[in-house]
Amino acid sequence: MSETHICLPELCIVVPVLNERDNIAPLVAAVRQAMGEVAWEIVFVDDNSRDGTREAIRAVAADEPRVRMIHRVGRRGLASAFIEGAHASFAPNIAAMDGDMQHDESRLPLMLQALRDGADLAIGSRYVPGGGVGDWDKTRAGMSDLATKLGQKVLKTHVADPMSGFFMLKREVFDRAMPGLSAIGFKILLDIIASLPTPPRIVEIPFQFRTRVAGESKLDAGVMRDFALLLVDKMVGHVVPVRFVLFAAVGSVGIVLHMLVLLLALKAAGWSFDQAQAMATAVAILGNFGLNNHVTFGDKRLKGLRMWRGLALFAAISAVGAAGNLSVAAFMFGPQMTNWFLAGFVGAAMSLVWNYAVSSAFVWRR
Ligand code: GDD
Ligand code: MN
Repeated sequence: MSETHICLPELCIVVPVLNERDNIAPLVAAVRQAMGEVAWEIVFVDDNSRDGTREAIRAVAADEPRVRMIHRVGRRGLASAFIEGAHASFAPNIAAMDGDMQHDESRLPLMLQALRDGADLAIGSRYVPGGGVGDWDKTRAGMSDLATKLGQKVLKTHVADPMSGFFMLKREVFDRAMPGLSAIGFKILLDIIASLPTPPRIVEIPFQFRTRVAGESKLDAGVMRDFALLLVDKMVGHVVPVRFVLFAAVGSVGIVLHMLVLLLALKAAGWSFDQAQAMATAVAILGNFGLNNHVTFGDKRLKGLRMWRGLALFAAISAVGAAGNLSVAAFMFGPQMTNWFLAGFVGAAMSLVWNYAVSSAFVWRR
């Protein structure tokens, strides 16, 4: 504390919240109790909760000046909420803690002491001796176990609990990770460690993951998709954008679908080639649109009228892409160039890049 300015808190606790009204006051009281003499502050980052969370925060802040809030509208995501909260403070140490009382705030002083003693990062860990997850059922425990193993694979350094949402790090370490962060979904700790140019000095401090009393978990299919996105981004994101990888994967599924429909229409239904090819194209475009809408751009999913408009636009973009594919391939497969493989590949790659760039700019732009 000595070399920092006297007014600056030593620790900023960033608490992302989404519909946690009844947890706010107990959480602040518990932190106040746990921190003793330490100079701390809390930055709540609320993504436009509908249940009165902000009012609860305002009420607490009325007699606790160490509590502040960022209100985000039209934004979502635990990871990006943490990043913005961290940027809203000048404290030399930053903690991430859930706003639902599942994280044991009595560990915070131990984590801070670990940083004072030279660690870069202190992790509240469920998977070291003394830690645990309480009364999770088999499914949740199994899922967490799988996610932990996958997470460990993308890290160069061993961490028992890379999926923990409860940790503390030095600001300089956060700043070093910042340029490489994917900021996708829930798993900000994994993101930070994987984004650091050199492995940080880590101390894992056991804690018991508490059972949620008030409010509901936000863990859903979207969170799992985001985790998959984060893993892909951490593996190949420095080469190509993760969305492009997904878009290309969806495109490959589309080709398989196209060929299946073509085969069925020709052989089973006895259609002419032109009819069958037209049908296969329509099905492939529909299938690609649906998959891209749910997976590649699942976080910007179009619904209702916007979906139909998006589909029409997507079909038009794909048609232009296909025409471009044909003409590029024909140009390359001209009199002086007879490599059909290269011609076909360049044509397909061109239309893939075109479809991706134009679709992400105009169809899923929100
Ligand atoms: N601002 C904001 N925006 N906050 C969010 C959002 C969001 O989109 N989604 C969730 N939160 C807040 C919740 O209000 C809560 O305070 C905290 O983030 C954790 O959300 P939960 O829905 O309670 O997550 P969980 O208990 O399933 O997952 C926790 O444990 C996992 C380990 O099993 C989190 O800490 C994960 O990060 C952790 O990996
Ligand atoms: Mn929780």
